[in-house]
Amino acid sequence: MDLINSPTRKQLIDQEYDDWKLTTNWLGKTLEHYAVLPSTQELALKRAQDDVKDGTIIIADSQTNGRGQLKRTWHSSDSKGLWFSLIIKPELESENAHHLTLLTAVALSETIRAVSSIQPKIKWPNDILIKDKKVAGILTETKTDHLKIRYAVIGIGLNLNQSAMHADIQDHATSLKIESSKRFDKKLFLNAFLTRFEGLLEIYLKDGFDSVKGEWLKHAFRLGEVIHYKTAGVNKRGVLAGISDDGALLIKNENNELKPLYSAEIMWF
Ligand code: BTN
Repeated sequence: MDLINSPTRKQLIDQEYDDWKLTTNWLGKTLEHYAVLPSTQELALKRAQDDVKDGTIIIADSQTNGRGQLKRTWHSSDSKGLWFSLIIKPELESENAHHLTLLTAVALSETIRAVSSIQPKIKWPNDILIKDKKVAGILTETKTDHLKIRYAVIGIGLNLNQSAMHADIQDHATSLKIESSKRFDKKLFLNAFLTRFEGLLEIYLKDGFDSVKGEWLKHAFRLGEVIHYKTAGVNKRGVLAGISDDGALLIKNENNELKPLYSAEIMWF
């Protein structure tokens, strides 16, 4: 049976908002939790197309084909991490879709700080770092219709309780357990995150991006420092000065001009 199209009862562990002890207002009211999936993102994209409820969450204990940005492999074959995708349908212009990644990064960083007292950093646009190593990643994919977002699927991979990282990534990845020597309850973490996300999204939709931007800047990796980057084959450098309203990285060059950077090869380390 094709797992993506028709997950079996056995593979589907629970669908209960209450089982996950969620205390959100709307996010996660519809929840599908699987022992194993190829990728929560793929199933969530399918569910979104099938018009599921706003706020549906797909969670898997492990993924056989987890994917990250740029179709990179996302190591998620064990059940120590938190692997899930949110389907949301905010009233938002498509040009603002990237705000959702930045907002998710803020909610994730704040949750990590709240549960572990560790202050992570947000590496623009979608990585969460602890001591320069990646602890979580965000993958936002949207479907737009007449310049409006029809739905966004936000995939989140958080290395939570791994005692050691996979050999392929151990030099640049870490887990909350490695950094704190503590074990974290997945359900409590998820509820804490979803509650923050829901609150932040509400504020953002009401008050605009400034509310998120201020919080984002508090967590930004290498803010105020000189970074080196390459655009159109040319090596450049400048001070990372912030982010613009449309989510670009703002770099102050040698002439003190602020330049937006939408995509570039950035030498972060
Ligand atoms: C990145 O940093 O490149 C983004 C990583 C996103 C990984 C998550 S894990 C849950 C969801 N399912 C996937 O296949 N990918 C995302």
